[in-house]
Amino acid sequence: MRILVINGPNLNLLGRREPDIYGREDYASLCEHIRAHARRCGAEAECFQSNHEGAIIDAIQAADGVFDGIVINPAAYTHYSYAIRDALAAIRTPAVEVHLSDLQKREAFRRLSVTAPACIAQICGHGFASYTMAIDLLTGKNE
Ligand code: DQA
Repeated sequence: MRILVINGPNLNLLGRREPDIYGREDYASLCEHIRAHARRCGAEAECFQSNHEGAIIDAIQAADGVFDGIVINPAAYTHYSYAIRDALAAIRTPAVEVHLSDLQKREAFRRLSVTAPACIAQICGHGFASYTMAIDLLTGKNE
């Protein structure tokens, strides 16, 4: 099983960016953590990060028929990108939305996800474990 992990804007700054909210480990460690977990689940994960909405949409479109599942943290696009939501809805590959922080416990504007309705699930508030839980879900590890 092949899984594409997409991270949106500012997640390349992990470790330096608001560490009290997003943790002290960097983006490279997140990717290592994800790839190692996927291997344990018998899957292969590829990580992609972009600060650009169009590049994220291109990656979602290109994943159709190539990857078996998507894990996506659209970052701030979560709250207003109908274009990313439409791209996720347009493809057959199932996607799980993840967030490091608990969106319900933060500012009001973060409580709404416009992208989650195009995903099979949303997992948030578990730091790096949000991603590994999404991989478990896609690989059926806990079934
Ligand atoms: C985030 C939450 C978003 O509201 C924020 O804009 C991010 C990161 C998270 O992983 O907790 O960039 O998606």
